[in-house]
Amino acid sequence: MKPEGLKTQIFLDSGDPKETKEMLDLLGFLDGQTTNPSLFAKSPEVQEKISKGEKYTKEEIYAEYKKIIQDISALIPGKSVSVEVYADANTSAEEMLKQAREMNTWIDSAHIKLPLTSEGLKAAETLVREGVDVNMTLIFNQSQAAGVYAATNGAKKGQVFLSPFIGRLDDIDLDGMSYIKNVLKMYRAGDGHVEVLAASARSYEHFLRCLQLESDLVTVPGKILREWAENNFELPSEDWQYEPGDLAPIPYEDMDLNKNYMQYNIQHDLTDKGIEKFVADWNNLLV
Ligand code: G3P
Repeated sequence: MKPEGLKTQIFLDSGDPKETKEMLDLLGFLDGQTTNPSLFAKSPEVQEKISKGEKYTKEEIYAEYKKIIQDISALIPGKSVSVEVYADANTSAEEMLKQAREMNTWIDSAHIKLPLTSEGLKAAETLVREGVDVNMTLIFNQSQAAGVYAATNGAKKGQVFLSPFIGRLDDIDLDGMSYIKNVLKMYRAGDGHVEVLAASARSYEHFLRCLQLESDLVTVPGKILREWAENNFELPSEDWQYEPGDLAPIPYEDMDLNKNYMQYNIQHDLTDKGIEKFVADWNNLLV
Protein backbone atom coordinates (compact mmCIF):
# COMPACT_ATOMS: atom_id res chain seq x y z
CA MET A 1 0.00 0.00 0.00
CA LYS A 2 0.99 3.61 -0.48
CA PRO A 3 3.01 4.92 2.44
CA GLU A 4 1.21 7.60 4.42
CA GLY A 5 2.58 11.06 3.69
CA LEU A 6 3.80 10.20 0.18
CA LYS A 7 3.18 13.30 -1.95
CA THR A 8 4.73 12.07 -5.21
CA GLN A 9 3.01 9.84 -7.74
CA ILE A 10 5.09 6.75 -8.48
CA PHE A 11 5.44 5.60 -12.09
CA LEU A 12 7.30 2.62 -13.50
CA ASP A 13 9.68 3.42 -16.38
CA SER A 14 9.53 0.27 -18.49
CA GLY A 15 8.29 -1.17 -21.76
CA ASP A 16 7.58 -4.58 -20.26
CA PRO A 17 4.03 -5.45 -19.10
CA LYS A 18 5.42 -8.33 -17.01
CA GLU A 19 7.36 -5.79 -14.98
CA THR A 20 4.17 -3.77 -14.52
CA LYS A 21 2.56 -6.85 -12.99
CA GLU A 22 5.60 -7.57 -10.81
CA MET A 23 5.68 -3.99 -9.48
CA LEU A 24 1.96 -3.96 -8.84
CA ASP A 25 2.32 -7.12 -6.78
CA LEU A 26 5.33 -5.72 -4.96
CA LEU A 27 4.01 -2.23 -4.20
CA GLY A 28 0.29 -2.89 -4.12
CA PHE A 29 -0.14 0.18 -6.34
CA LEU A 30 1.33 2.01 -9.32
CA ASP A 31 0.24 5.50 -10.31
CA GLY A 32 1.23 5.06 -13.93
CA GLN A 33 3.91 3.98 -16.37
CA THR A 34 6.19 5.62 -18.90
CA THR A 35 7.62 4.12 -22.06
CA ASN A 36 9.89 5.45 -24.80
CA PRO A 37 11.36 4.00 -28.01
CA SER A 38 14.47 2.66 -26.22
CA LEU A 39 12.40 0.94 -23.51
CA PHE A 40 10.03 -0.46 -26.14
CA ALA A 41 13.05 -1.85 -28.05
CA LYS A 42 14.25 -3.55 -24.85
CA SER A 43 10.93 -5.18 -24.03
CA PRO A 44 11.13 -9.01 -23.99
CA GLU A 45 8.51 -9.46 -26.73
CA VAL A 46 10.47 -7.23 -29.09
CA GLN A 47 13.81 -8.73 -28.10
CA GLU A 48 12.53 -12.24 -28.76
CA LYS A 49 11.76 -11.35 -32.36
CA ILE A 50 15.01 -9.46 -32.89
CA SER A 51 17.10 -12.30 -31.41
CA LYS A 52 15.66 -14.60 -34.11
CA GLY A 53 17.06 -12.22 -36.72
CA GLU A 54 13.58 -10.88 -37.57
CA LYS A 55 12.58 -7.24 -37.94
CA TYR A 56 9.37 -5.22 -38.16
CA THR A 57 7.68 -3.42 -41.02
CA LYS A 58 6.36 0.08 -40.18
CA GLU A 59 2.83 -1.29 -39.73
CA GLU A 60 4.04 -4.19 -37.56
CA ILE A 61 6.09 -1.99 -35.26
CA TYR A 62 3.13 0.25 -34.40
CA ALA A 63 0.96 -2.84 -33.92
CA GLU A 64 3.54 -4.29 -31.47
CA TYR A 65 3.85 -0.99 -29.57
CA LYS A 66 0.05 -0.75 -29.39
CA LYS A 67 -0.21 -4.28 -28.01
CA ILE A 68 2.40 -3.60 -25.32
CA ILE A 69 0.72 -0.32 -24.32
CA GLN A 70 -2.67 -2.04 -24.15
CA ASP A 71 -1.24 -4.90 -22.06
CA ILE A 72 0.29 -2.39 -19.63
CA SER A 73 -2.89 -0.32 -19.45
CA ALA A 74 -5.04 -3.40 -18.79
CA LEU A 75 -2.97 -4.01 -15.63
CA ILE A 76 -3.36 -0.42 -14.38
CA PRO A 77 -6.73 0.63 -15.80
CA GLY A 78 -7.39 4.36 -15.67
CA LYS A 79 -3.77 5.13 -14.79
CA SER A 80 -1.61 7.21 -17.06
CA VAL A 81 0.58 5.38 -19.57
CA SER A 82 2.99 7.45 -21.66
CA VAL A 83 3.24 6.56 -25.34
CA GLU A 84 5.95 8.27 -27.38
CA VAL A 85 5.63 9.43 -30.97
CA TYR A 86 8.41 8.62 -33.42
CA ALA A 87 10.13 11.91 -34.19
CA ASP A 88 13.51 12.99 -35.43
CA ALA A 89 14.88 16.53 -35.46
CA ASN A 90 12.96 17.32 -38.66
CA THR A 91 9.58 15.75 -37.88
CA SER A 92 6.81 18.30 -38.43
CA ALA A 93 4.10 19.11 -35.91
CA GLU A 94 1.56 17.72 -38.41
CA GLU A 95 3.33 14.34 -38.49
CA MET A 96 3.51 14.24 -34.70
CA LEU A 97 -0.17 15.17 -34.46
CA LYS A 98 -1.14 12.35 -36.82
CA GLN A 99 0.67 9.77 -34.66
CA ALA A 100 -0.50 11.33 -31.40
CA ARG A 101 -4.18 11.28 -32.36
CA GLU A 102 -3.89 7.62 -33.37
CA MET A 103 -1.94 6.61 -30.24
CA ASN A 104 -4.48 8.40 -28.09
CA THR A 105 -7.11 5.90 -29.28
CA TRP A 106 -5.05 2.89 -28.10
CA ILE A 107 -6.04 3.29 -24.45
CA ASP A 108 -8.26 5.57 -22.37
CA SER A 109 -5.52 7.12 -20.27
CA ALA A 110 -2.58 7.88 -22.56
CA HIS A 111 -0.16 10.76 -22.13
CA ILE A 112 1.36 11.33 -25.55
CA LYS A 113 5.09 11.91 -25.29
CA LEU A 114 6.54 14.53 -27.60
CA PRO A 115 10.19 15.59 -27.83
CA LEU A 116 11.10 19.16 -27.02
CA THR A 117 11.59 20.56 -30.51
CA SER A 118 9.76 23.67 -31.70
CA GLU A 119 7.52 21.37 -33.76
CA GLY A 120 6.93 19.24 -30.65
CA LEU A 121 5.82 22.34 -28.76
CA LYS A 122 3.49 23.34 -31.59
CA ALA A 123 1.98 19.85 -31.55
CA ALA A 124 1.56 20.04 -27.76
CA GLU A 125 -0.28 23.35 -28.00
CA THR A 126 -2.77 21.82 -30.47
CA LEU A 127 -3.20 18.53 -28.60
CA VAL A 128 -3.90 20.25 -25.30
CA ARG A 129 -6.61 22.33 -26.98
CA GLU A 130 -8.10 19.08 -28.35
CA GLY A 131 -8.19 17.64 -24.83
CA VAL A 132 -5.33 15.17 -25.37
CA ASP A 133 -2.89 14.62 -22.47
CA VAL A 134 0.80 15.17 -23.23
CA ASN A 135 4.17 14.42 -21.68
CA MET A 136 6.98 16.65 -22.94
CA THR A 137 10.22 14.74 -22.86
CA LEU A 138 14.00 15.19 -23.07
CA ILE A 139 13.95 18.37 -20.96
CA PHE A 140 17.26 19.67 -19.64
CA ASN A 141 16.95 23.34 -18.72
CA GLN A 142 14.55 25.89 -17.29
CA SER A 143 14.03 27.69 -20.57
CA GLN A 144 12.67 24.48 -22.11
CA ALA A 145 10.40 23.99 -19.09
CA ALA A 146 9.16 27.58 -19.36
CA GLY A 147 8.43 27.01 -23.06
CA VAL A 148 6.29 23.97 -22.21
CA TYR A 149 4.43 25.98 -19.57
CA ALA A 150 3.70 28.81 -22.03
CA ALA A 151 2.71 26.52 -24.93
CA THR A 152 0.21 24.59 -22.80
CA ASN A 153 -1.36 27.50 -20.93
CA GLY A 154 -5.00 26.78 -20.19
CA ALA A 155 -4.51 23.00 -19.83
CA LYS A 156 -6.30 21.17 -17.02
CA LYS A 157 -4.28 19.86 -14.07
CA GLY A 158 -3.05 16.36 -14.94
CA GLN A 159 -3.10 17.06 -18.66
CA VAL A 160 0.54 18.08 -19.06
CA PHE A 161 3.60 16.32 -17.68
CA LEU A 162 7.15 17.62 -18.05
CA SER A 163 9.92 14.99 -18.07
CA PRO A 164 13.25 16.49 -16.96
CA PHE A 165 16.08 13.94 -17.20
CA ILE A 166 18.22 13.64 -14.08
CA GLY A 167 20.78 10.98 -15.01
CA ARG A 168 21.73 12.47 -18.36
CA LEU A 169 22.66 15.77 -16.64
CA ASP A 170 24.69 13.81 -14.10
CA ASP A 171 26.41 12.16 -17.08
CA ILE A 172 27.84 15.55 -18.09
CA ASP A 173 28.92 16.31 -14.50
CA LEU A 174 25.98 18.57 -13.66
CA ASP A 175 23.79 17.89 -10.65
CA GLY A 176 20.54 16.69 -12.25
CA MET A 177 18.77 16.79 -8.89
CA SER A 178 19.48 20.52 -8.53
CA TYR A 179 17.74 21.00 -11.86
CA ILE A 180 14.63 19.14 -10.64
CA LYS A 181 14.59 21.45 -7.61
CA ASN A 182 14.82 24.51 -9.89
CA VAL A 183 11.96 23.42 -12.16
CA LEU A 184 9.73 22.63 -9.18
CA LYS A 185 10.48 26.08 -7.74
CA MET A 186 9.76 27.82 -11.05
CA TYR A 187 6.49 25.96 -11.59
CA ARG A 188 5.35 26.53 -8.01
CA ALA A 189 5.22 30.22 -8.86
CA GLY A 190 2.81 29.36 -11.70
CA ASP A 191 -0.76 28.03 -11.83
CA GLY A 192 0.11 24.31 -11.58
CA HIS A 193 -1.07 23.30 -15.07
CA VAL A 194 2.23 21.48 -15.78
CA GLU A 195 3.34 18.72 -13.44
CA VAL A 196 6.94 17.60 -13.04
CA LEU A 197 7.52 13.92 -13.82
CA ALA A 198 11.15 13.47 -12.78
CA ALA A 199 12.75 10.99 -15.20
CA SER A 200 16.05 9.30 -16.00
CA ALA A 201 16.44 8.42 -12.33
CA ARG A 202 19.36 6.03 -12.12
CA SER A 203 19.84 5.51 -8.40
CA TYR A 204 17.83 4.90 -5.25
CA GLU A 205 19.20 8.25 -3.97
CA HIS A 206 17.76 10.05 -7.02
CA PHE A 207 14.41 8.48 -6.18
CA LEU A 208 14.54 9.43 -2.48
CA ARG A 209 15.55 12.98 -3.35
CA CYS A 210 12.55 13.27 -5.71
CA LEU A 211 10.29 12.21 -2.83
CA GLN A 212 11.99 14.66 -0.49
CA LEU A 213 11.52 17.51 -2.99
CA GLU A 214 7.88 16.43 -3.39
CA SER A 215 8.18 16.23 -7.15
CA ASP A 216 4.64 15.84 -8.53
CA LEU A 217 5.59 12.52 -10.09
CA VAL A 218 8.66 10.36 -10.55
CA THR A 219 9.26 7.53 -13.01
CA VAL A 220 11.84 4.89 -12.15
CA PRO A 221 13.09 1.52 -13.39
CA GLY A 222 11.91 -1.63 -11.60
CA LYS A 223 15.27 -2.10 -9.86
CA ILE A 224 14.76 1.14 -7.88
CA LEU A 225 11.25 0.12 -6.84
CA ARG A 226 12.63 -3.27 -5.71
CA GLU A 227 15.15 -1.41 -3.57
CA TRP A 228 12.36 0.75 -2.14
CA ALA A 229 10.44 -2.40 -1.21
CA GLU A 230 13.55 -3.82 0.50
CA ASN A 231 13.65 -0.61 2.52
CA ASN A 232 10.01 -0.97 3.55
CA PHE A 233 8.83 1.91 1.34
CA GLU A 234 10.67 4.44 3.46
CA LEU A 235 10.17 8.18 3.00
CA PRO A 236 13.26 10.38 3.41
CA SER A 237 13.25 12.44 6.57
CA GLU A 238 13.63 16.21 6.32
CA ASP A 239 17.23 16.00 7.47
CA TRP A 240 18.21 13.25 5.03
CA GLN A 241 20.90 14.68 2.73
CA TYR A 242 21.27 13.91 -0.95
CA GLU A 243 24.99 13.76 -1.78
CA PRO A 244 25.75 14.99 -5.32
CA GLY A 245 29.48 14.36 -4.90
CA ASP A 246 31.51 16.25 -7.51
CA LEU A 247 28.51 17.13 -9.69
CA ALA A 248 28.22 20.89 -10.28
CA PRO A 249 25.02 22.50 -8.98
CA ILE A 250 22.83 24.13 -11.63
CA PRO A 251 21.92 27.69 -10.57
CA TYR A 252 18.27 28.80 -10.47
CA GLU A 253 17.30 31.33 -13.12
CA ASP A 254 14.46 33.83 -12.70
CA MET A 255 12.26 33.36 -15.71
CA ASP A 256 9.05 34.91 -17.02
CA LEU A 257 6.53 32.11 -17.64
CA ASN A 258 4.13 34.29 -19.58
CA LYS A 259 5.92 35.04 -22.84
CA ASN A 260 4.83 33.65 -26.19
CA TYR A 261 6.18 30.10 -26.21
CA MET A 262 8.10 30.69 -29.46
CA GLN A 263 10.28 33.22 -27.62
CA TYR A 264 12.01 30.69 -25.35
CA ASN A 265 15.30 29.21 -26.43
CA ILE A 266 14.56 25.51 -26.32
CA GLN A 267 17.67 24.14 -28.05
CA HIS A 268 19.76 21.80 -25.91
CA ASP A 269 22.48 19.42 -27.07
CA LEU A 270 21.23 16.65 -24.77
CA THR A 271 17.75 16.95 -26.30
CA ASP A 272 19.26 16.61 -29.78
CA LYS A 273 21.35 13.60 -28.70
CA GLY A 274 18.36 12.02 -26.94
CA ILE A 275 16.21 12.32 -30.06
CA GLU A 276 18.98 10.72 -32.15
CA LYS A 277 19.21 7.79 -29.71
CA PHE A 278 15.44 7.19 -29.66
CA VAL A 279 15.36 7.31 -33.46
CA ALA A 280 18.31 4.89 -33.74
CA ASP A 281 16.78 2.39 -31.28
CA TRP A 282 13.45 2.47 -33.13
CA ASN A 283 14.99 2.25 -36.61
CA ASN A 284 17.12 -0.72 -35.55
CA LEU A 285 13.93 -2.72 -35.23
CA LEU A 286 12.79 -1.95 -38.77
CA VAL A 287 13.42 -4.02 -41.91
O1 G3P B 1 12.24 8.21 -18.33
C1 G3P B 1 13.28 8.45 -19.20
C2 G3P B 1 14.29 7.39 -19.06
O2 G3P B 1 13.82 6.18 -19.54
C3 G3P B 1 15.62 7.73 -19.62
O3 G3P B 1 16.51 7.17 -18.75
O4 G3P B 1 18.59 6.23 -17.97
O5 G3P B 1 18.14 6.41 -20.44
O6 G3P B 1 18.62 8.44 -19.10
P1 G3P B 1 18.06 7.05 -19.08
